[in-house]
Amino acid sequence: MPTVIFQPSGRRGLVDEGTNLLDAARQLGVDIESVCGGVKVCGKCKIKIETGFFEKFGIDSRLSNLSAFLPDETDYLNEEEIADNYRLSCCAEVLGDLLVFVPEESRGAKQVVLETGKERVFNLNPAVRKYYIEMQAATLEDHRSDAERIKDALNAKYGLPRELNFDYPILRDLPTIVREAHWKVTVTVWNRQEIILVEPGLVQRSLGLAVDVGTTTVAAYLCDLHTGQVLVVDSMMNPQVRYGEDVLSRITYAMMNDDGLEKMHAAIIDGINTLARRMTEKLDLTPELILEVTLVFNTVMQHIALGIEPSHIGRSPFTAGTKEAQNIKARDLGIKVWKAANVHTLPVEAGFVGPDNVGVLIAEEPYKEPEKMRMVIDIGTNGEIDIGNAKRLLCTSCATGPALEGAQIKFGMRAAPGAIEKVRVDPETLEASYKIIGRDEWYPELKKADVKGICGSGIIDVVAELFKSGIIQKSGRFNMKLDSPRVRKGEDGRPEYVLAWADETSIGKDIAFTQGDVRAVQLAKSALYVGSRYLMEKLGAQNLDSVTLAGAFGSYIDKESAMLIGMFPDCDLDNVLAVGNAAGDGDKLALLDVGKREEAARIAREVEFVETAIEPDFQERFAAAMAFPHSTDKFPHIEHILAKVGKK
Ligand code: FES
Repeated sequence: MPTVIFQPSGRRGLVDEGTNLLDAARQLGVDIESVCGGVKVCGKCKIKIETGFFEKFGIDSRLSNLSAFLPDETDYLNEEEIADNYRLSCCAEVLGDLLVFVPEESRGAKQVVLETGKERVFNLNPAVRKYYIEMQAATLEDHRSDAERIKDALNAKYGLPRELNFDYPILRDLPTIVREAHWKVTVTVWNRQEIILVEPGLVQRSLGLAVDVGTTTVAAYLCDLHTGQVLVVDSMMNPQVRYGEDVLSRITYAMMNDDGLEKMHAAIIDGINTLARRMTEKLDLTPELILEVTLVFNTVMQHIALGIEPSHIGRSPFTAGTKEAQNIKARDLGIKVWKAANVHTLPVEAGFVGPDNVGVLIAEEPYKEPEKMRMVIDIGTNGEIDIGNAKRLLCTSCATGPALEGAQIKFGMRAAPGAIEKVRVDPETLEASYKIIGRDEWYPELKKADVKGICGSGIIDVVAELFKSGIIQKSGRFNMKLDSPRVRKGEDGRPEYVLAWADETSIGKDIAFTQGDVRAVQLAKSALYVGSRYLMEKLGAQNLDSVTLAGAFGSYIDKESAMLIGMFPDCDLDNVLAVGNAAGDGDKLALLDVGKREEAARIAREVEFVETAIEPDFQERFAAAMAFPHSTDKFPHIEHILAKVGKK
């Protein structure tokens, strides 16, 4: 029997002469892409034959050890590939020893890079897969039903289990579809369990939607399940904001109004439907082409989105209605995508630490770090902190409030065109320069600024810059003795710093950062700092080896500014990384790789939740952490900057 070796996996074995290379690969456990299942119509199964004597393997691999080139192959291989010994694996039969290289694009379990705030490499292995089959037409001698015929073909060709279920609505049209398609159909299978779609002919397109439902913002990613690429990104304000700004006020709304939960549930489902429609329209497609949806959210948003009574999460002992990952039919939730599509939600860790933090964890994978002490902070309306490594991982949740996202700040706004995203204050003149989203130049070089407000990264920058230049003191109070028109008393008589004069704005009034705004940032950063210190103590960690800043605006945070205001304990700035919306990334990974769902279930069980707000000295520590960067804790890595603070 001929020996066949597949590279780069190195799998080798003996195969019967006359076996095609696609079947040989399957027999040896090598996954080659084959959308058409080997009927020579998709062109996805390309491989390259390496020729010569390979001493290491003891084989002489030659082109003549393969069956002759078929005309079908020229439809999918260009001249260069043919000259380079490429073949379609389903067309080439083994006649002698062969060394076969499977190129990246033909590998079934492909590694794909997700390009977001950070490059993330993952295995493309979605729950939804399409399989092309050609069946024998029904005859009087063969009494199998249409459904049995499909299941038999899937089993014979792709090794799928015979126990596959048909989603009921799919059965209704089945007899018509298979006959009109002359028994050549593409079957979409979810999770190797359920047939959710049967389409005539060969169909490759497969869309999925990942949605990150934040308390304030909903971010959505339309992905190609076949290539792993993100096709469209879109976002909107969470339409539930009209029922309350934070999770507690939404729980209260649900408790105080008989139809409160129903209304808020309908609002978010409507929002998801709007995003799905808007995003598919951009590609001239329809939402019915979306075959799976994954959702992440905090625990309260999860309960409301799934229509589960949320009030018990809001009061001690903060019990969730359900913590497990869910698989729910989109139609049961009212999500208007493909009628048989599944909606997968990641699991809850504990209380307020919800599926969104699990998303952050499976994206950042601190549990794979063997030794070093990693910290991952997800900054949103609620702040979630994870500290640890493969040995032990702790998490906590802090009530940061929405200040760092721009809410509760007088001129705060979402990260959108016109928002100030970076700020510098000259310590000599106390003059401001800033950069707004959508424009490359900085003000004052920027002639017509048209500023609308300040977004999260700008808010952190402005506080750090005001502190560095001595405009606000360590306590957060303004130094009103400074001689600058920008440092003044506002209409309410309270101190403020004018960041943009009225003629630089599109709102026709001065955009100022007020004493109240500084205070709101202090409350948020103090909550994060105290939470992280408790976790470090419980782990016996003196120092952090790295800090990852995640959050919808996370990729734009200036890490030096964040440390200067004391958002997290001291760490070498070279090891502080801002990665953007890691919860959204985790959501996409769960959509594109079922392995990540298993990882999520395991880590949600393993991470230890610590309730920090009930610690006896919490208030005392909170007060100490209000100062910039902290009233007593040291920050050796930024000492050189702190030494110059407030000194002109
Ligand atoms: S598997 Fe489709 S052409 Fe080979």
